Amino acid sequence: MTSAPDDVIGGWDAATAGLAPPLVVLDLDAYEANAADLVRRAAGRPVRVASKSLRCRWVLEDVLARPGFAGVMAYAAAEAVWLVTSGVRDVFVAYPSVDAETLRAVAADDDLRREVTSTVDSAEHVQWLTDTLGPAARGVGVAVDVDCSVRVGRAHLGVRRSPVRTPEDAVAVARAADAAGLEVRGLMFYDAQVAGLPDSPAVRLLKRRSVAELRERRAAVVAAVRTVADLRFVNAGGTGSLHTFGDDTAATELAAGSGLYSPTLFDGYDAFSARPAMAYALPVVRRPASGLVTAFSGGYVASGQPGWSRVPSPVRRGLSLLRTEAAGEVQTPVRGDVDGLALGDRVWMRGAKAGELLERFDTLHLVRGGELVDSVPTYRGEGRTFG
Ligand SMILES: Cc1ncc(COP(=O)(O)O)c(C=O)c1O
Repeated sequence: MTSAPDDVIGGWDAATAGLAPPLVVLDLDAYEANAADLVRRAAGRPVRVASKSLRCRWVLEDVLARPGFAGVMAYAAAEAVWLVTSGVRDVFVAYPSVDAETLRAVAADDDLRREVTSTVDSAEHVQWLTDTLGPAARGVGVAVDVDCSVRVGRAHLGVRRSPVRTPEDAVAVARAADAAGLEVRGLMFYDAQVAGLPDSPAVRLLKRRSVAELRERRAAVVAAVRTVADLRFVNAGGTGSLHTFGDDTAATELAAGSGLYSPTLFDGYDAFSARPAMAYALPVVRRPASGLVTAFSGGYVASGQPGWSRVPSPVRRGLSLLRTEAAGEVQTPVRGDVDGLALGDRVWMRGAKAGELLERFDTLHLVRGGELVDSVPTYRGEGRTFG
């Protein structure tokens, strides 16, 4: 659902009428419905919240207070320290970090050492931690990232992250970590080619094959690592794949974040249809011709493989961007039924991805039923950017 009904858009307009665009809103009704749907699809497993996909402490704390959500999947060590220092518990940094100063701070503090878990995927990572932390490495928590890509012949389908694939690979890293005095707390299996790809005939095939292969491999890896480590968690999945785990008991928790805001990249999945919860408004500033207006700013193109799927989309049905300009650095032309828009009226847009959009805004406006409920700072608004 790329577009939103006119009454919903009218509600966002009414709620923010006193504010100057560009501005971004979180529609609380849609967000709460999306949160409930993630919990339903997780089918009883706790959902660890992917903070990179939220980038707002108010949302993080709000969602963690809801039944069905537990723990944070952070993206940077410095972010994890900031969150734990502000009271958040159980923060797993799901990407390897070489932020030596921050990791030394984690190792040196009892609370941080208990609540922050880092990612390793190789003996090289373990050696780096040992060299960097010295004797303080003892008791620092780590989780092993296991590659979930699919190999078809020589083709590699999925992300390029961990070299760990087999039970033997994972046990070797866990043993090396244990021998170095690190505490092996978890395993992570992120199935990017299932969780992060909208459905199409070819992708459906790939997903079916991938889910079956992963289910078997995950069970074998988890069983093997459990013989050498006392695991607190086995994390798996993402917004696009929660529902594929069924009764698989190898994963003790699932991960999700984007599904709360529901950016456009999550519009094209067969198994769920989330409500657009986050949208941003750009003010109309000029009229190049009939059927065209140009709005201020708006070029918030998302990360990843470049292409139209990464470009923001107008929310109102029938409006579109120009192929020649797309969303611009400070000017975004929009085509369609726009002749009724006056200077200063808003064009509402949705981003292709979730949290990174908030790197453009200091404040997130919380709206419900045409009312402005609150305005809260984003990470950026708190002066925090972690990459
Ligand atoms: C390790 C990991 N787990 C889970 C996710 C899923 O996050 P989201 O639900 O925001 O797509 C991601 C997203 O890239 C990820 O990198």
